[in-house]
Amino acid sequence: MTTSEKRTRIWLDGCFDSGHFAHFNAVRQALTLVPSELPVHITVGVHSDAEILKNKGPPLFGERERYDVIRGCRWVDQVVEDVPYVTQLSTIDQYNIDFVVHGDDPVLDADGNDCYAFAKAAGRYVECKRTAGISTTSLIERILHPDKPRISSEEPLRELLRAFSQSATPNVPVLTGEKAVLPEEFPATRALTCGAWDCFGAGHVELLRRAREAGGGSLIVGVWDDATVEEVTGEKPLLAHLERALALVQCRHVDAVILHFPRTPSLSLLSSLGVSNVVTFGETYDADTSIKVLTVDCPPLQTVALLREKVHAQLQLFEDRQRRKGA
Ligand code: CTP
Repeated sequence: MTTSEKRTRIWLDGCFDSGHFAHFNAVRQALTLVPSELPVHITVGVHSDAEILKNKGPPLFGERERYDVIRGCRWVDQVVEDVPYVTQLSTIDQYNIDFVVHGDDPVLDADGNDCYAFAKAAGRYVECKRTAGISTTSLIERILHPDKPRISSEEPLRELLRAFSQSATPNVPVLTGEKAVLPEEFPATRALTCGAWDCFGAGHVELLRRAREAGGGSLIVGVWDDATVEEVTGEKPLLAHLERALALVQCRHVDAVILHFPRTPSLSLLSSLGVSNVVTFGETYDADTSIKVLTVDCPPLQTVALLREKVHAQLQLFEDRQRRKGA
């Protein structure tokens, strides 16, 4: 990096487990929270499975998946894999970090000491607001108790969608349903893909990358509502419609998101979106001849069924983890 490219370097670390939007929101908030005139450079340090197991209990997503999901976040510049659970000054210095950012929940080491005391003492600690309504613990609860009622207020999620959309450069339009029309300035070469995007994992990031590459321009992504997901997969999604949309907006391979996207989009919807290519991953798709259908290999995807299997295979460990978290 030359002097003219000088940036304020920010560090966030954590487990970044289960691909949920609170982690992306912490990174997003870090963009604007630090006192800096310069553009920021964000480095995310991610703990290994062994570190999480030792300090917290088993993670839901494996380490490779956790590293690759956060690497797919549009606001992340660099990912450091396998960082110690307790942040070390030497690590921060190694990456020339100006500020450490963390959510406003206390983070204590095994002896009850504040993990970020050194950064606070040096005036290099900035707190972001923890995102309410989601955590890895709450997702494990959803897996263990699928019939328990979930918090269903949509307004905070809509607000967050607006914030995510506006924090992207250029902004990521988030539109709804059959009457969706993209802004005039949206790039002309447009491919579309759609799906559930539940349990957003490394496979989803890779799938979106492949879809965008195949389309050769911008990628519009349709997200099915909960009823459509249930109809297609035979079970309720782990994350609700707007929660799944948030995972899309933060992803660096996505240029626009369409909510309540139909399972089989009409030709009028595709033409009002100005789509020239539809990208599919093996499923057949009947489109008008004016729409080109591109079929791309689908990488292995994270699913509720796989996560349920993992939790039930280590039930005692997961239950102990939940108990320690007061779930
Ligand atoms: N974070 C947040 N809001 C949440 C969950 C996490 O702002 N609801 C922030 C944390 O404060 C931290 C970063 O996301 O700065 C990574 O957190 P991580 O250690 O991965 O997660 P936890 O705090 O343990 O939360 P979770 O149970 O969701 O894994």
